[in-house]
Amino acid sequence: MTGARRALPARGLRYGGDYNPEQWDRATWREDVAAMRAAGVTTVTVGVFSWALLEPEPDRVETAWLDEVLDLLHGAGIEVDLATPTASPPPWLARLDPETLPVDASGHRLHHGSRTHFCPSSPTYRERALAITRAVARRWAAHPAVVMWHVNNELGTTCWCPRCGEAFRGWLRARYGSVEALDAAWGTAVWSQRYARWEEVAPPLRAPYLLHPAHTLDYRRFASDALLALYRAERDAIREVDAVRPVTTNLMGFFGGADYRSWAGDLDVISDDSYPDPADPGSPVRAALTHDLMRSLADGPWLLMEQAVGAVSWRPHNVPKTTAVMRQDALRAVAHGADGVLSFQWRASPAGPERFHSAMVPHAGTGTRLHRAVQQLGRDLAALADVAGTHERAEVALLHDWPSRWAAEEPATPSEHLRVLPQLEAWYRPFWETGVGVDVRHPGDDLEGYRLVLAPQLYLLTDDDAARLRRYVTDGGCLALGPFSAVADGNARVRTGPFPAPFTDLLGAEGEEWWPLPGGGGDDDTVGLVPDPASPEDVGSGTARTWAEVLRPTHGVVVARFDGGDVDGLPALVRSRDDRLHYLATIPDDVLLRRWLLGLAERRGVAPRLPVAAVPAGVEVARRGPVTFVLNHRRTAVEVPVRTPCLDLLDGVEHQARVPVPPGGTVVLREALT
Ligand code: GAL
Ligand code: ZN
Repeated sequence: MTGARRALPARGLRYGGDYNPEQWDRATWREDVAAMRAAGVTTVTVGVFSWALLEPEPDRVETAWLDEVLDLLHGAGIEVDLATPTASPPPWLARLDPETLPVDASGHRLHHGSRTHFCPSSPTYRERALAITRAVARRWAAHPAVVMWHVNNELGTTCWCPRCGEAFRGWLRARYGSVEALDAAWGTAVWSQRYARWEEVAPPLRAPYLLHPAHTLDYRRFASDALLALYRAERDAIREVDAVRPVTTNLMGFFGGADYRSWAGDLDVISDDSYPDPADPGSPVRAALTHDLMRSLADGPWLLMEQAVGAVSWRPHNVPKTTAVMRQDALRAVAHGADGVLSFQWRASPAGPERFHSAMVPHAGTGTRLHRAVQQLGRDLAALADVAGTHERAEVALLHDWPSRWAAEEPATPSEHLRVLPQLEAWYRPFWETGVGVDVRHPGDDLEGYRLVLAPQLYLLTDDDAARLRRYVTDGGCLALGPFSAVADGNARVRTGPFPAPFTDLLGAEGEEWWPLPGGGGDDDTVGLVPDPASPEDVGSGTARTWAEVLRPTHGVVVARFDGGDVDGLPALVRSRDDRLHYLATIPDDVLLRRWLLGLAERRGVAPRLPVAAVPAGVEVARRGPVTFVLNHRRTAVEVPVRTPCLDLLDGVEHQARVPVPPGGTVVLREALT
């Protein structure tokens, strides 16, 4: 954390998108600004890819065109999130110094011609990036349109060049002190990998066979830190001229190339880019989970910096969003804590790789279905202005840790079918389906106050974090661990002794072997799960797939057992006698998982705080502050029972005992004052 976060000025729920005026002539700028006003746009992100126009050749900075754009926007009351253009260096930079270009894991240098073509460790790149950042900040820090600084764009480049190798060695020295300590921590006694001198340590470039997992894990940690260092350098350059306005960089949800938890404290505003696939029925739950991650990183409201109002163009087959889905995607983000909805991009590009990406003004213009939907969303967000700023902590925490995920998903584990994000999603789903709020936390966070903490797959757990989790349990918390958790320590070394090694005493069970089930990951390859007759709670019967473990109860309670297959009769779900620590050693079917998790939640006094009496299947409900969002995903109308009369803030209609929601419809309810 670098001091208190700077906040955006209050302005209800923000609305707008990326605006790339450099792709258009002056007459279009004027049309754009008028159309933005008509659509209720409050905020645009400008300058993300403007480097080659702002600095056509080294040190010749041309600002007049952007002055004009900012003045026009300001004249219309539209505020600007002004970006540093450093995500896409101009062609001259690679000519000036080809080593500014990144190198891939095979050791090949990439070329200019796309974007994000920079090596985070290149001194030339950094120097030129900071120079243009300073020029932008100096020129527009006093401009009244500017409300926030947007550093780079989706910082995510990993580079394997010799210079990054040098920086990596510096990073390792700081972490381990000596080569001997590194050898010990990584465990380089295997395969004759022992390093005798620092110079021998390089980035984990492609090799004939498997790489050392501690080596690759540390490289991912290093790569994340290198990007964070770039962000900080630009942020600090901005701070030299503007000490007041918030600085952000747009994140990418659960993106695997950076540890956002370690970045969060440096971002004044947590902003995220979210592109759920409208063709995938799993998108709503995944989007909600990702939004909850952002709200948790922010510990408060966050900003949806980018989304699509229609189709993207980077999937093999790009299904557009219906008006209903577009509205739901936007309002879901608000329901999960976003204080604004910005899209990529305002006007569709006629040229370039993204010529078929949707935009708020499509190629066909403003007299279109899509643009009318964009205008309607502007009105919807205006009607929900009071929601802005509201935030409350959830009662359930779901644990996620980037390094743990990286380590768990290295090759050569017992099964590649046990994946972290699908596990998180499966455990999150029952709460999402019933409208129970969930925060996404890290085992190192302060978990006090959460009634229930869920760790669906926390493979790597440092000694400190293990001690914290133990303390959370012994202080009266309730922790549920999923399969293959607490297996490795902070250096990705497997903990020896019965597992889950840091918890066997509290749990009252000891594991001896991992037992991936024959048949791999398919839903058809299952074994049975049956409740243990002696268990006080009944999770019912069901099925388990993919994964099992050989567990032996000591003083714990067996809740369910495997039925059939090689693991017939072994415990699948155990808990401590005091009901505070739970361990699930498999992937159960969704019904059993839901019954178990919601049972736990109920015993812990977790309840959805909703005016809705029962959430029908296919309906998504989420509470934020004083309002409740209801999204009908079905193709048929539903009636949602409510306990108290409610007002739909979107259309002003008051409902008594039942709220009708049309197919694909969204209502936002506020309990009527009685
Ligand atoms: C984002 C990026 C935008 C645009 C968008 C298209 O990753 O930040 O510049 O490319 O995707 O979906
Ligand atoms: Zn590099």
